[in-house]
Amino acid sequence: MLRREGLSKLTGRERYVDDLPVDDVLWGATVRSPEPRGRIAEIRYSPTVDWSEFVIVDHTDIPGRNAVYLIEYDQPALAPGYVRHVHEPVLLLAHPSREAVRRAAREVEVIVEPDPPVLDFRIDPGPPLVQYGVDNVLKRLSILKGDVERALSAAPIVVEGVYETGAQEHVYLETQGMLAYLDGDVLVIKGSMQCPYYVLKALKPALDRTEAGIRVIQTPTGGGFGGKEEFPSMVALHAGLLALKSGRPVKLIYDRPEDMVATTKRHPSRIRHRTGVDEDGRLLAQDIEVVMDGGAYVTLTPVVLSRSMIHAAGPYSCDNVRILGRAMFTNSVPFGAFRGFGNPQAHFALERHMDVIAHTLGMDPAELRRINLIRDGQTTATGQVIRDGVDRIRNLDRALELSGVERRRREHWLFNAEHRYLRRGIGMAAFYHGAGFTGRGEVMLDSRVQVEGRADGRAEVLCASVEMGQGQITAFVQLAAARLHYDPDDILIAEPDTQRVPDSGPTVGSRTVMVVGRLVERACDDLRRRLGLGEGLGGDELKRAIADWHASHPGERLLGSARYEPPPGIAWDEEHYRGDAYGAFGWAAQVAEVEVDLRTYEVQVRDFVSVQDVGTVINPTLARGQVQGGVAQGISWALLEHCAFQNGALANGQLTNYLIPTSADLPPIRVEFSEVPYEHGAQGAKGIGELPLVGSAPAVLNAVAVAVGRQPTEIPLTPERLMALLDDPVPPAKRRESDL
Ligand code: MOS
Repeated sequence: MLRREGLSKLTGRERYVDDLPVDDVLWGATVRSPEPRGRIAEIRYSPTVDWSEFVIVDHTDIPGRNAVYLIEYDQPALAPGYVRHVHEPVLLLAHPSREAVRRAAREVEVIVEPDPPVLDFRIDPGPPLVQYGVDNVLKRLSILKGDVERALSAAPIVVEGVYETGAQEHVYLETQGMLAYLDGDVLVIKGSMQCPYYVLKALKPALDRTEAGIRVIQTPTGGGFGGKEEFPSMVALHAGLLALKSGRPVKLIYDRPEDMVATTKRHPSRIRHRTGVDEDGRLLAQDIEVVMDGGAYVTLTPVVLSRSMIHAAGPYSCDNVRILGRAMFTNSVPFGAFRGFGNPQAHFALERHMDVIAHTLGMDPAELRRINLIRDGQTTATGQVIRDGVDRIRNLDRALELSGVERRRREHWLFNAEHRYLRRGIGMAAFYHGAGFTGRGEVMLDSRVQVEGRADGRAEVLCASVEMGQGQITAFVQLAAARLHYDPDDILIAEPDTQRVPDSGPTVGSRTVMVVGRLVERACDDLRRRLGLGEGLGGDELKRAIADWHASHPGERLLGSARYEPPPGIAWDEEHYRGDAYGAFGWAAQVAEVEVDLRTYEVQVRDFVSVQDVGTVINPTLARGQVQGGVAQGISWALLEHCAFQNGALANGQLTNYLIPTSADLPPIRVEFSEVPYEHGAQGAKGIGELPLVGSAPAVLNAVAVAVGRQPTEIPLTPERLMALLDDPVPPAKRRESDL
């Protein structure tokens, strides 16, 4: 099936929030902190502006709690006198002219009496720092399996390594934006978001309104990648405050530079591995420490750290595992959700380290992985028994075969011996990703979906999952049409509107098709059941039954509904981080071929193969698109996307100096699916959205290591860093302060 909204997007007819025509609208702007930490001493309004034309909102205009609530109430909507990061929102302005409000925002000076900021998350939590209590630790977690110390001391070989990853900007095509207006007593919020019910949840306490007093509607959204998971609540709250104070509709739309410098990014990480192996390459012990930069407020950091740690030991069987992790508060712009949620960081370190181990042992890295990949019946680091019928070794071998690894290696050997300045190499990664919320998360979400039988016989899916470019609408049309034996044209997908659709949970965590899609199927079944029709029935017969029902029930609604039920036999111990972390995992293997130019230190990825087990593939074109997009974003994170931070904020906040790849920078990305159905996912589907990104950076860096004969440990591997690695007689010990 073709993407349902594809034509309107291609032809420019789709209306994003910035395109919505609104009468009498005011434009909003945000005045931000210039300093990373300190007391706001004074706010100076330039006399060159006529301020009587402007609506001005500060923290005293917030009717409820001054917080953007998701996990904690710690992040103010507007700084109440103290700032903890550069670009922290301090004031809001609104004016009928979009240009005037932008200019005016630059004419407000926020004077901060600075306190010394904490900008390096890698320092050990030592002496107490007054800012956040004892030690600036935002969250600590540990995972313990077996006896790591004993296994390490008994291991014949111990390999150590420290790996670092940088931040990453989402660069969704559409920047953050919200429209707010009053409809009678109801505050309506429309805009770009992944999670309408998260926005509602944040607005209720801050605006001191009930659920009936707020209506959140998602408008067509141009990309999210996690960047529209928590941040839209901030934008919505700001737009709402301006609309409430002015009594007029307000649009608050970020331009690209503001979006890049002021919104969340992927968490930078530093991960240490100490691994005991025997001479044959069997993993005896994995001792892992994960440290992340949380930035100035909690946001989703505890969840990101959790997912990172659960995946940190990788798709391998090892009896002795210790994973200690912490996320640190710093005075940086808060880091937040980004596709993969901490798992790309974990797998960069792990899969780079696996190649270092193979190199140390003089082993083929594929063989090291084959020996240790989880077989059915073996357990993950949390002790979850994997028994899903996926042949992880075959998938690795298939990826290697598709890449032509044997032939390539021979060709590269000759090529590298002869060429003056080009070096080629091939590298791989094996990895996995849990789909849906962790542990009892899905039970807590208690997601619901409805399917309405309309008077004309068509069926409408009512859910809060959103389309953001990934294909949710099309996938749900397919699932409902298959279940009801309908033509896809007879399936409607409701606009995500919190006063019209039930809470299906957020559109995150690779959960949409697997978890919510399954609820769509069950709600379809429930609709049929309400009409007393048997399981196989559908199509025209169902349409007639729906029309007949409406004839005898005038003015009533015919709703099938479904509510999340956990798959049987799932047990998770949240206190000890043991047990079944996820209902299902997606598994993958990827192979990258690179060419390094020793004159410019540029790395070009020449070929890329991805073999993925995501359960049943619902729509092959969209699924391939997800994999290619994830791989592209992973390659880009590995090689190009350097966040240059100054005072804890992005200094290169423009697409002229923050580089992302064009199509000319990317290799052919060849995708193959191994489809082992998951019985509790829609049509057997598992999550697909995040998995492909997880193992892309290590595959690329492993190929670079082969090409140049050195072991890079840090991404992005910019030409500057590669030059330092290749030209320095000793590897640079530590990152410089200016690199932070
Ligand atoms: Mo996400 S990073 O689960 O939107």
